[in-house]
Amino acid sequence: MIAPTVGKTLLISAALFVSLSLALILFSPSFQFSQTSAISPLLERAQIWSLRRVIEWRPCNWWLQGHLSVLPEKSNGYIRVDCYGGLNQMRRDFCDGVGIARLLNATLVLPKFEVAAYWNESSGFEDVFDVEYFIQKMNGFVQVVKELPAELVSKEPFRVDCSKRKGLFDYVETVLPSLLEHRYISITPAMSQRRDRYPLSAKAALCQACYNALQLTYKLEKKGAELLEAIPKPFLALHLRFEPDMVAYSQCEYSSLSPASVQAIEAARGDRKPWTGEEARLWRSRGKCPLTPNETAAILGALSIPTDTNIYLAAGDGIMELEGLTSVYPNVYTKSGLLDGEDFRNMHGNTKAALDYHVCINSDSYMATYFGNMDKMVAAMRALKGLYKTLFLSRRAFAVLTSQGLKGNSLMEALWKVHRDDYVMGVGSALPDCFCEFKL
Ligand SMILES: *[C@@H]1O[C@H](CO)[C@@H](O)[C@H](O)[C@H]1NC(C)=O
Ligand SMILES: *[C@@H]1O[C@H](CO)[C@@H](O)[C@H](O)[C@H]1NC(C)=O
Ligand SMILES: *[C@@H]1O[C@H](CO)[C@@H](O)[C@H](O)[C@H]1NC(C)=O
Repeated sequence: MIAPTVGKTLLISAALFVSLSLALILFSPSFQFSQTSAISPLLERAQIWSLRRVIEWRPCNWWLQGHLSVLPEKSNGYIRVDCYGGLNQMRRDFCDGVGIARLLNATLVLPKFEVAAYWNESSGFEDVFDVEYFIQKMNGFVQVVKELPAELVSKEPFRVDCSKRKGLFDYVETVLPSLLEHRYISITPAMSQRRDRYPLSAKAALCQACYNALQLTYKLEKKGAELLEAIPKPFLALHLRFEPDMVAYSQCEYSSLSPASVQAIEAARGDRKPWTGEEARLWRSRGKCPLTPNETAAILGALSIPTDTNIYLAAGDGIMELEGLTSVYPNVYTKSGLLDGEDFRNMHGNTKAALDYHVCINSDSYMATYFGNMDKMVAAMRALKGLYKTLFLSRRAFAVLTSQGLKGNSLMEALWKVHRDDYVMGVGSALPDCFCEFKL
């Protein structure tokens, strides 16, 4: 689950490095122990954020230093990127599409943001992102136009579907011929692609588009600022995924859920039956099962996050079993609780997701119980802003440790160690493509 592009060698050397560096850190004078706790020094733990980090991810120089090669004089044609799914999935695909347009020496038209049925809304790209800002920021990286030339304007683009392609996919081979033939095409980028073959100019266009050129519209930014203002500071933004559809989709089984949750999950299940027996155990130990609010609270406890911490919950409306968290961490805030009712009713999927995104990239600290598109985007934007209190909670470690029968303090200790190592080594927040590892 952890960013697949991080090489195995890196992980292995990282593991060695961790043990060494931790020894150093623990004995270094700048290592701060918490001063308030009165329990025995052996059990005493600093808050996870006070650890000294060894690795951090920063935007790579080849990207920041600019656009490397002049744009081609003649464009090979026009490309529209068609994006599907939730806001952050669409954003990810759009970023890929910008890189592809540069790779093919094409001109980009504004993308189509398809609205998934479950969002029930109609906000397109320009309702979420500032178009003028985007065009201005992409100047020199790729050509962008708002309007097609007269001879194409009444045409529908020729659709090149690469979204289902797997394996090594080469756009120059596969897509360029259609572009040259039809002059105007639409694409949905493939899941995996040969970015390693991209010239730096295409990679830089992707990075610039994704992390420097997408700004929320003025209206959304203003609403986001209002929400941010309303949250008591300092605060932790917690991306918790325990909605019925998420749990149903995971095919995991949970004991001791309330009857209401069980019913909601059943209703969302469709023909995805949960795993049972040994298969269920293996599935869980591979980290496939969403953390419950109760399990999340247990991990926060293990990381010495004080129980009076202000927590902004970035989550969908239907989150279940929230008492499991709020019974331990009572200072939990949500956008529906903080924003004026009428405003909120007029907001739908994409715009709500944009607000959560805005809060999460500006919070003092960020933790995610999942490693989805939003989490990757947020981790990247936080790194860009120099906000490094970012951590992905390990579903896998939780499952493995509890299945080994660990409980109480020994479970806490083991959870602490896993997340301490991840935090110190920047694991999980590994940001391939546009970010480079930096040894501190
Ligand atoms: C794009 O243009 C550059 C020169 O500006 C050229 O080297 C490259 O081969 C072109 N690529 C395609 C796919 O046309
Ligand atoms: C979807 O939106 C329409 C119009 O805004 C509204 O009337 C309808 O109730 C909504 N449906 C759901 C399932 O939220
Ligand atoms: C989680 O639930 C278990 C069993 O229901 C309970 O014993 C435990 O105290 C809870 N943990 C937290 C952190 O709420």
